[in-house]
Amino acid sequence: MTTRDERIARIVAAGCRAPSVHNTQPWSVRVEDHGHLTVRADPSRQLDRCDPQGREMFISCGAFLLNLRVGAAHEGLDAHVQLSPDPDDLLLAARVTLDDRGAPSTFDPALFRALTSRRTVRGGAAARPLQSPDVERLRRAVVLEHADVVFLGPHDAARGRLVSAMRRAEALALGDDALLAQDRSWLGVSRDRVDGVPVDAMGGWFRESVVDQHSLDRDVASGARTFETGATSALLTTPQDGPRHWLVVGQALERMLLVATTRGIQASFATRVLENPATRAEVERAFHLDSRAQVLLRFRYGSGAPFTPRREPDDVIRAGSHGSHDQGAAPDRDEDRTGRSS
Ligand SMILES: Cc1cc2nc3c(=O)[nH]c(=O)nc-3n(C[C@H](O)[C@H](O)[C@H](O)COP(=O)(O)O)c2cc1C
Repeated sequence: MTTRDERIARIVAAGCRAPSVHNTQPWSVRVEDHGHLTVRADPSRQLDRCDPQGREMFISCGAFLLNLRVGAAHEGLDAHVQLSPDPDDLLLAARVTLDDRGAPSTFDPALFRALTSRRTVRGGAAARPLQSPDVERLRRAVVLEHADVVFLGPHDAARGRLVSAMRRAEALALGDDALLAQDRSWLGVSRDRVDGVPVDAMGGWFRESVVDQHSLDRDVASGARTFETGATSALLTTPQDGPRHWLVVGQALERMLLVATTRGIQASFATRVLENPATRAEVERAFHLDSRAQVLLRFRYGSGAPFTPRREPDDVIRAGSHGSHDQGAAPDRDEDRTGRSS
């Protein structure tokens, strides 16, 4: 017989399997009345150099929320999620109510199994495009979560502009020592840590101390090398920027990644190009968007990338301060940023 608290611990453990930028796992959970969870973004885990707005932090929290919903469905519970419920407390990502009298789950049980087998893949160039039914499955996953996605095939004209924007973003980042130092504190770390990306999960190109000096390595780091190939790429978008939009697209991202996993498809990310406002605008122009570019991915058929560690649910449930004790700047409210810098 399992208690309600044990079920909640398993649901939080499912959340913890979510992807997060640099494996920062920037979330914390408070459990109230055995059925109400508050999920907060943890600004002490925000990458303030490359993610000053907290955009990637909130996208990661969105992925965490999607996993919570899948984990709750597996426990026979319905998870009602209220995103950004307090306009004066934007680090409060969501209130989640767990209900066992709800309607049957809309999640395919295969998505629960995919929580633990999904991996981010890095490096490796050759890849064939995805088959169209798989592209449609991924598109449906994104749309179900109320975000949008544009796919790029092997012969798409935007590919060249995308790759040159990626190279430019990487070159600009090379001039920012503080940003590179922050990267180094999360990437290529020891397996003894419960967060960050272990060195063996970084892909063959990564050689800790020399990575910043070698243009070839940086080309692989930016993803430009792999995005030049004929693989299918996807750009997830939202109408506007802001914490609520980022939480929405994070859920869409994770639903898409879980569906991909059930189809034997792995994804690699290319985030740098979306971190710099100028190169992000270049990407948006290349795709002719009047919405905001949020996540750039490339897909390939395959499995078996290395596992990355996670914090224990107990740590996540206890960790992080709540309410008025939170440290760090509050993010901007949702706003229309169609007047982009370029
Ligand atoms: C918003 C976001 C941005 C990411 N950007 C990158 C990236 O640019 N390059 C990369 O290799 N991985 C990127 N990742 C993947 C994370 O590094 C990965 O999720 C984390 O290390 C955990 O590993 P896993 O996905 O294999 O579980 C990103 C993940 C998220 C959620």
